[in-house]
Amino acid sequence: MKRLEVSRLMLDMLEYHRGDFHRIGHAQKVLDFVRLIAELEGTGEKARKLLECAAILHDIGIPEALRIHGSSAPPFQEREGERVAGEILAGYDMDEADRRWIREAVGAHHSPEKVEARGIRILFEADWLVNIMEKKLAASPAAAAELRGRYFSSPSGLRVFDILFGPPEP
Ligand SMILES: [Fe+2]
Repeated sequence: MKRLEVSRLMLDMLEYHRGDFHRIGHAQKVLDFVRLIAELEGTGEKARKLLECAAILHDIGIPEALRIHGSSAPPFQEREGERVAGEILAGYDMDEADRRWIREAVGAHHSPEKVEARGIRILFEADWLVNIMEKKLAASPAAAAELRGRYFSSPSGLRVFDILFGPPEP
């Protein structure tokens, strides 16, 4: 069985989303911000690797949520995502606690109330940075301020947010 490596998991994700360049690009962007924020926050190598794996897989449940439930609403994609992530990770020789952590991170990444308990604040903020860019959600200073206050609290997440979308008005 293969050993868990970020690059191998990336190939699995590319394969799973083959042909869907938007989803592939989204996962790559979230991975990149996760890596940046984790490095700036000094999480340490182990935590960063787990966060990177979770970032690669975070939206893996969307196709199955659409197929089974006809909707990619957060509860459906979290549920199916946790399952599909488990299926993909089953191909790896890895620590059981790590496997469960990544699965549960995928299964909670849209649930603000679970972010702190699961230790996935960096993934949550990285996903929001990318969603805000892709969907142009920070179209006005007021909209940016609202998003900043609602979803961001890590010093490095806030720093990146302010570079991308402008600092809060004085
Ligand atoms: Fe996402």
